[in-house]
Amino acid sequence: MAQHIGIITSGGDCPGLNAAIRAIGKGGQDAYGMRVVGFLNGFRGLAQDRTMELDDRVLSGIMTYGGTILGTSRDKPNRMTIGDRTRDMTDVIVDTYHRHHLDALICLGGAGTQKNALLLKNTGLNVVTLPKTIDNDVAMTDTCIGFDTAVSIATEAIDRLHSTATSHNRIIVVEVMGHRAGWLALEAGTAGGADVILIPEIPYRIERIVQAIHDRTRKGKRFSIVVAAEGAMSMRDAKMVQKLAMKKNNGENKQVRQNASNQLSAFHEAHVGHTIQLTKQLETLTGQESRLTILGHLQRGGTPSAADRVLATWLGTRCIRALTEQQYGVMLAVQGKEIKLVPLEEVSGKKKFVPPDHPLVGSARLVSTCFGD
Ligand code: F6P
Repeated sequence: MAQHIGIITSGGDCPGLNAAIRAIGKGGQDAYGMRVVGFLNGFRGLAQDRTMELDDRVLSGIMTYGGTILGTSRDKPNRMTIGDRTRDMTDVIVDTYHRHHLDALICLGGAGTQKNALLLKNTGLNVVTLPKTIDNDVAMTDTCIGFDTAVSIATEAIDRLHSTATSHNRIIVVEVMGHRAGWLALEAGTAGGADVILIPEIPYRIERIVQAIHDRTRKGKRFSIVVAAEGAMSMRDAKMVQKLAMKKNNGENKQVRQNASNQLSAFHEAHVGHTIQLTKQLETLTGQESRLTILGHLQRGGTPSAADRVLATWLGTRCIRALTEQQYGVMLAVQGKEIKLVPLEEVSGKKKFVPPDHPLVGSARLVSTCFGD
């Protein structure tokens, strides 16, 4: 049975990570006498052998803290910036694992972390992962640690913006996180009664949004709330992105594929903050004063919700049980009312997007929410 286990948190932080670290640490030590060590700042801590002993004293009282006591980073084992060079640190990480006599490594992370965990699994390490991200876009799991809290934070912000939008008869655009997936915008927008919800999976036409706002004005409603995911884009941009993505994957030669890849990166870089442009366009086209609020990292900060604490405790302790059963190379996925162990190969390289015909999209449409399509 696994006796020595390591933990890392990797990728963007989120509320609930400490609750998961606590569940793994306490569950492992108290119930099975395991030794649990944390590595700092994601995969970088494994490469640099920087550790934190996760004893009872450290684990006590961390449930309610936001962020991660271990620190995190977006470093990849095989492409890590060390000084002014990018190096493959996989072998170094494997050495660290063995030097600490680890029987298993638990990685808490989003879609990118699943890929990196598979890479380590393929070198022969015993790896188990837990899904976390406020984007809720990890494949094969219904939900991820951090998502519920982010939805609550964004919903509260939308509620507060409603009152000021009403007082001034304004359009308020609220940008929420989510570059590629619109789960957060969809759920917070629905919970906050947004009039317009824009998500990357449903490209919008500006005229449709303007029409929805005019319809509201005709009904005597002189304010509107537009919730837009960071990655929401117009139909025209979406077509261009789709074309470039096709070229990037299937271009006739390496040069064509590389050019398409560069153009795609340039587009996404320029698209950051596109809601500034969107807000100006809406003001011009509707004649209504418009303002923008970008919620940004507020959505990732602070105390986790009760639901996230429960989820983190459930996943963390189930993870310990998986280790006692020597189940490795898997991600713990919430599927319905159960936690399933899904092979990393089935998760890695995939993302869970909002299907445009998702029942919640249908419900929102029935209460007159416009998706801009
Ligand atoms: O972790 C997911 C996420 O919060 C995305 O929603 C967002 O686009 C991104 O991370 C922001 O990343 P960073 O914190 O590195 O700026």
